[in-house]
Amino acid sequence: MKYDIIVIGSGITGMRAAIEAKELGANVVLITKSTPVANNSYMAKGGINAAFGNMQDEDNIFNHTKETLKSSGGLGNEEAIRIFCEQAPAAVRELVGYGVGFSTLANGRIAQRPFGGSRFKRTVYAADETGPAIMKALYEVVKKYEIDIIKNHMAINFLTRNSTISGVTLFDEESEKVVVCEGKSVILASGGFASLYKNFTSNVKDATGDAIAMGLRAGLNAMNLEFVQFHPTGLKDSNFLLSEAARGEGGKLVDKNGESFVDELNTRDFVTRAIFKEIQKAHEVYLDLRNVPKEVLETKLIGIKKRVYTLKKLDPSVDLIPISPIAHYTMGGIETDVIGRTSIAGLFIVGEAGDNGVNGANRLGGNSLSQGAVFGKISAYEAIKFANRMKKYNGVDYYDITRDIQLIDKLKDLAARVNVNEIRTQIGKIMFEKIGIIRSEAQLQEALEDLQEIENSLQDAASNKPSNVKSLLELTNALLVAKATAKSALLRQESRGAHFRIDFPETDKKFETNTLIKLEDVQA
Ligand code: FUM
Repeated sequence: MKYDIIVIGSGITGMRAAIEAKELGANVVLITKSTPVANNSYMAKGGINAAFGNMQDEDNIFNHTKETLKSSGGLGNEEAIRIFCEQAPAAVRELVGYGVGFSTLANGRIAQRPFGGSRFKRTVYAADETGPAIMKALYEVVKKYEIDIIKNHMAINFLTRNSTISGVTLFDEESEKVVVCEGKSVILASGGFASLYKNFTSNVKDATGDAIAMGLRAGLNAMNLEFVQFHPTGLKDSNFLLSEAARGEGGKLVDKNGESFVDELNTRDFVTRAIFKEIQKAHEVYLDLRNVPKEVLETKLIGIKKRVYTLKKLDPSVDLIPISPIAHYTMGGIETDVIGRTSIAGLFIVGEAGDNGVNGANRLGGNSLSQGAVFGKISAYEAIKFANRMKKYNGVDYYDITRDIQLIDKLKDLAARVNVNEIRTQIGKIMFEKIGIIRSEAQLQEALEDLQEIENSLQDAASNKPSNVKSLLELTNALLVAKATAKSALLRQESRGAHFRIDFPETDKKFETNTLIKLEDVQA
């Protein structure tokens, strides 16, 4: 297989990149390890930020920039944030052009709701089903444009020559074979790693940090992995996210006496820690939607209302909803420049997979979908410029392909003996308890030891519950990224944004810099 542009990942970032590349006339392929809309963009229900100022004249790009920068805890890259906030309104209007039906006001303008960390109603939405509305519309465009889609193929490694991208190796789930896809340029948009927090996450199960593992193996830096965003309102004992839309529409956070204990529209890191401290004192914490007008519950929050009833048999108009924070988004990723370029020429890493500094230590709620739309589009433009400069394909080294064929053979053997599901559960518990909302040096060291023990034990595994090769490949990536995250969190001996160290509870100017990790650091 040969393409000008290879896009890996079919969330909003990948789809937007593929659509842009096609519109610019490129020969493009969209590759996904599962099916096109089964991803975290689809799961993002509450909204997408763009400073239209439709609800308040005084909101504008300047305020969006200022609040995104403030939320980033001193680590945000000002240029990336400026590009993002300036481009977000156009990116959302383009989504409307692609057929996304956002909720509107009586005057026909796009409606906007408040989200945490902002003084303005800036979050555009489609009731509480924004992600599904966007992803379904974009997928229709991908099909209409007849963009080649390769499903159920998981990227294994980059193929490079002379520090320039040549393509990727893929694992074909059906044939269980390694497939080579050559490209003049590659856009990797395969998401983050919050699903490593299995049983404590809002993410789809395949957000296993594949891009970060691939980047580390290719010699790139992983940046700021310690900044894991916990969403304040997971439905207790479930993976269901009670979207920030609920608080945006007037929901309150209360203790068992119905008393407020935190400003529910503060930034996520702040609200999450306030809830977590209550839970540590064995106090139940609740989302209270009882004062939200019935017509709002029945329209703008209908998805939440139905799901809460299905999962807990609770009626939000009369019952308090028990909550606990869940891992939701990973700010760190492979280090890139502001437009997603890496130090491998022709390789772009964008969206949650990369780190161009747009979120720093903490992402403002509602920014992720618009970041995907903005930087997906920009990366396509840049990738085409690069591909056009390449006169011919860069060529592949057969040694690299043989290496991945051997890896898959090894994983086939392991797959027969390893119960990946059970191990992912163990990793989830380690991540939540030891690399969680509040960390310490002792916990992080323990996490590293536990993860190493799991890795060592794989060779001798003898479970009678076999797994498939793809899940083992994901596990390999997950273990690498989990260890890299613990190492990053150990290096940051301060508290900042989403990273809180109980042994270093203050923010320290000395650490106002990015944490960079290489493969050797993880293996040390
Ligand atoms: O709460 C939410 O709907 C999540 C949105 C986001 O992470 O941006």
